[in-house]
Amino acid sequence: MNKQIAVLAGDGIGQEIVPQAVKVLKAIGERFGHQFDCVDGEAGGQAIDATGVPLPSETLALARNSDAVLLGAVGGPQWETLEYERRPERALLGLREQLGLFANLRPAKIYSALLGASSLKREVVEGIDILVVRELTGGIYFGKPKGIETTPTGQRGFNTEVYTTEEVTRIADMAFKTARKRRRHVTSVDKANVLESSELWRHVVVAVHQNYPDVELRHMYVDNCAMQLVRNPRQFDVIVTSNLFGDILSDEAAMLTGSIGMLPSASLGSTVGMYEPIHGSAPDIAGKNIANPIGTIASIAMMLAYSFDLTKEAEAIDRAIHTTLSQGYRTTDIASPGATILGTKEMGETILKNLQA
Ligand code: IPM
Ligand code: MG
Repeated sequence: MNKQIAVLAGDGIGQEIVPQAVKVLKAIGERFGHQFDCVDGEAGGQAIDATGVPLPSETLALARNSDAVLLGAVGGPQWETLEYERRPERALLGLREQLGLFANLRPAKIYSALLGASSLKREVVEGIDILVVRELTGGIYFGKPKGIETTPTGQRGFNTEVYTTEEVTRIADMAFKTARKRRRHVTSVDKANVLESSELWRHVVVAVHQNYPDVELRHMYVDNCAMQLVRNPRQFDVIVTSNLFGDILSDEAAMLTGSIGMLPSASLGSTVGMYEPIHGSAPDIAGKNIANPIGTIASIAMMLAYSFDLTKEAEAIDRAIHTTLSQGYRTTDIASPGATILGTKEMGETILKNLQA
């Protein structure tokens, strides 16, 4: 197989974790006889500094012409005072919108070696395996009208939560299809007791469910879901929800596993999938070689499985991560007594070694 990957390391720890993942991808290519051509592009704050805009047209063209995109993270305090349209985060939102990546898959699975790293009790988190399917190109993130306007008494800031039948149909389809490869249970999360957009959401999810009688569906209000996730997370298999609710709930689900640094994500919808760790650019620890590269390396595994259908290769990466953790190697964010603490680069190299073993 011969594929081109657009590599957008971005800002902060993105610059440190992405090279570790690229090494792993290259090693998979060598071991299984594939050619992965990695082409670097600029996105986020680094692109603002170099070109004045967060998502240069060359970067967008590179992403469009590639078979998949690997993204590190974007953002940092030095760009926070810029107006919204010029901020690093726009690179991410622009890529999602322009590439039509309407579905964001965020797995929260606990590595057995890390059971002690969760802030919740071991018996609560043991065995959790949740997949948040977040709608990614609609809802309040993109809804219009939006803005800040001046009124006689001050200012007024506003956004619009909006969903169409078409948008809910395709994300619901994705959730039910994905559930078929798992435990066949979908929880649709909304706020249908208050919001009309949620009322439509629920109505459409129920209609789409007619095509998936073998999958169990239930509905849950978002506030209850936030509570249930810490009370009894094992009750969840697939959670399907809107852009904003999914943003919040996926961070919560991630933390059940011990560290947000562990978790990968896939954004799908068009021919080009985008893969990134779910954490951000972590400017406070950038440049110190202490960030956890595992979420980014696991994102490569998702890329291989979802974009290229290379399941064996994806499993080899997951196994190498498991082995490394069970050998007692940790980055500081998942440190435990008696563990061997590794830097970003050293963690990447150890996983690589276990991959080649
Ligand atoms: C995420 C992030 C982004 C989002 C930000 C950086 C725009 O929090 O991917 O979850 O809100 O979607
Ligand atoms: Mg988020």
